[in-house]
Amino acid sequence: MFEYNVITRRCSKEEEIPYDLLLLADETIEAINRYIHQSDCYVFEHQGQLLGLYVLFPINNHCIEIKNIAVLESAQGKGIGTLLIRDAIQKAKEQSYTTILIGTANTAFKQLYLYQKEGFEIDDIKKNFFIDNYPTPIYEKGILLNHMIMLKKTIEQ
Ligand code: ACO
Repeated sequence: MFEYNVITRRCSKEEEIPYDLLLLADETIEAINRYIHQSDCYVFEHQGQLLGLYVLFPINNHCIEIKNIAVLESAQGKGIGTLLIRDAIQKAKEQSYTTILIGTANTAFKQLYLYQKEGFEIDDIKKNFFIDNYPTPIYEKGILLNHMIMLKKTIEQ
């Protein structure tokens, strides 16, 4: 686990959008711009460096989605991602949401493991999401990125 508390800060709308980190979790700036302006971005900084973030996008009054979660490559594998997911669930709970969603690619085995470990269950598959929404085919470790796997967690109030 990370040796420090992961305390996040909500970015103000005036701040520069941290595209470098957001692009670790999404393929293009165009795709990020489809949700970032209607979302809240929470960042985790340590010793003046942005180490991680997540983005919460309200779907309706009850349901919110983690649209983007990313940890700086050099800081991955130390438990920060796990703590960011827990923080996102807590933030959603504080805002009285009862359901939280997260979607990831069919090729994202590590992410699917992490989200299920934190209590999300596979709920839906958006077939051909990446083929329909991105300009060119994307391959990861030789597998075509095609479907978006949607996972859901109920938040106990
Ligand atoms: N291979 C396999 N498993 C791994 C690896 C690895 N390279 N690295 C970590 N893990 C495991 C860990 O062992 C841990 O499991 P454990 O608690 O049972 O030991 C689990 O994954 C989570 O590890 P963390 O250290 O908490 O996660 P991390 O800080 O690395 O953050 C994240 C995870 C956010 C996915 C990070 O790797 C990242 O930024 N990746 C690139 C961007 C990305 O893919 N984001 C998600 C896209 S989907 C979306 O944004 C909605």
